[in-house]
Amino acid sequence: MSEKTAELRRDDNQFIHPWDDIAKLGENERTVLERGEGVYVYDSDGKRLLDAPAGMWCVNVGHGREEMAKVIYDQVMELPYASPWSLTTGPAAQFSAQIAAEAPGDMNHVFFTTCGSTAVDSALRFVQFYNNVRGKPGKKRIISHQKGYHGSTYLGASASGKERDKNNLDFADALVHHIPAPHSLWKKVEQSDAEFLDQCVGNLEKAILELGADNCAVFVSEPILASGGVIVPPKGYHARCLELCRKYDMLYLSDEVVTAFGRLGHCFASEAVFDIKPDLITTAKGLTSGYIPMGAVLVSDRLLKELADCGGDSAVFSNGFTYSGHPVAAAAGIKNLEIMKREKLFDNAREVGEYMQQQLQSLRDIPIVSDVRGIGLMACVECELNQGAADLEKDYDIGNRIDKHCQELGLIVRPIINMCVMSPPLTISKDQIDEMVLILKTGIERAMQDCIDEGIWSPSS
Ligand SMILES: Cc1ncc(COP(=O)(O)O)c(C=O)c1O
Repeated sequence: MSEKTAELRRDDNQFIHPWDDIAKLGENERTVLERGEGVYVYDSDGKRLLDAPAGMWCVNVGHGREEMAKVIYDQVMELPYASPWSLTTGPAAQFSAQIAAEAPGDMNHVFFTTCGSTAVDSALRFVQFYNNVRGKPGKKRIISHQKGYHGSTYLGASASGKERDKNNLDFADALVHHIPAPHSLWKKVEQSDAEFLDQCVGNLEKAILELGADNCAVFVSEPILASGGVIVPPKGYHARCLELCRKYDMLYLSDEVVTAFGRLGHCFASEAVFDIKPDLITTAKGLTSGYIPMGAVLVSDRLLKELADCGGDSAVFSNGFTYSGHPVAAAAGIKNLEIMKREKLFDNAREVGEYMQQQLQSLRDIPIVSDVRGIGLMACVECELNQGAADLEKDYDIGNRIDKHCQELGLIVRPIINMCVMSPPLTISKDQIDEMVLILKTGIERAMQDCIDEGIWSPSS
C-alpha cells in the first residue's frame, strides 16, 4: 500500500460511514477509490477493479461520462439553485415531464427529493396525508416485507425489515407490520408454484385482516428485494398484492429505488416487468446514475384527483426539501436519461442481463454456493457453509472474504453476510460479464479454501 493510501485511510477514520461498527472506528481497511471509467474504477494505488455493484446499484450509465460532467458544470454556471417553493427552473420542470412520460399508467406527477430514503419517507407521509384528507385518519398501518429495505429515515427504516438493522435503534413499530419475504428458497419441495404464490399472497391478506382493513394504509414493496439479497418473488405476486390493496382500499407503493432506470431493462419495472400500475413509485440512484444525489416520488392522478375533490382548502402537502427539484440534479437527470435512450442501454441491460444470469449459474458447481438468482442486471450468489444452521456466525464472513479475494483479482462485489450481490453498469458487455464471472469464481474458490485451511469448513461438513 502506498503512503498516500495509508494517509487517506488514516484521514478516513474521521468519516463515520453508513453501517459503521462504532466499536471498530479507526480500524479502517477500506479500498480508496480514485477514479472511474465505464464499468471500471481505479483505486488510489492505480489498481483497476470491475465495479460489479455499480457503486451502490446506481452508476447505471457507467463512470467517467464527460457529458454528465459538462451538463452539471453548465447548470452550476447558469443557475446553481432556485427555491422550489415559489419558483421553478427549466431542468426541474422538464425532468418532471420526462419522468411522467416514462412512468406507468396515470403516474403523471413527480415529487422530487434528495435520495431514495427521502423519497420513501415522503411517499409514506403522502399516504398519511391522503388518508387524513379523505377523512380516514385511522388508516395508518404500513405493511412491508421482512428483508425489505426502504432507507434510513425514521419512517423508511421502520418500514425496512432487515432484522440485523434493528439493533439499538428505535422504530415507528406501532405503524409498521412486516410480512415474510416472498423468497423462492422458502418454497417447500412438496409445494407447487401456484400453492407457493397463494401462500405468499395469503401472508399479506392475513396481515390486513388481523390488523383490520380500516387500519391499513399502504403496502410497500420493492419489485425485487434488492439488499435483502435480490429476492425475486414468484410470478404474479405483485399483481395479486395490488388486487388485495384495491380490495381493502389500501395504496400500493412500489419502491423502485433500485429497479428503475434500466436495472431490469426498462425505465420502470413495475408495469413493464411485473404488470402492475401502482399508486406511488419511489426512485433514486439510476435517476441520475449517482452522479449527483436525487430521488423522486411518482404519484398517480387518481390520488391527486381524490385529494383535490375532498380536500377543500386543507389539501396542502406540507412536506419538502430545500433541494427538491434541484436544477443541477435535474439537468444531470435529463442528460442521464438521454444517454440511456441514445445508447439503448435498457436493451443492453435486457440482453446482457440474461447472459449474466446464465453465466453465473456455472458457479453452482462450487460446493459452498447454495443459490444463484437474479433478474436483469441484478444478481446474487449465496454461499452456505453452515447448512440450515440458525447461527450463521460461521457464514458471516464469507461475503467479505470473497470480496477481499475478488478485489485482489480486480473485481468489487457487494458482500452481504453470506451473499455477493452484483448490479453492474448497464453499459457492461458480455466479455466483461465473462471477466466478472471468472474472477468471482476464483474469489469464491479461494475463500472456500481459506475456510478449509482454517478448519472452519470441510467439503464433507
Ligand atoms: C429499495 C430501496 N429503497 C430505498 C433506499 C434508500 O435510498 P438512499 O440510500 O438513496 O437513501 C434504498 C437504498 O439502497 C433501496 O435499495
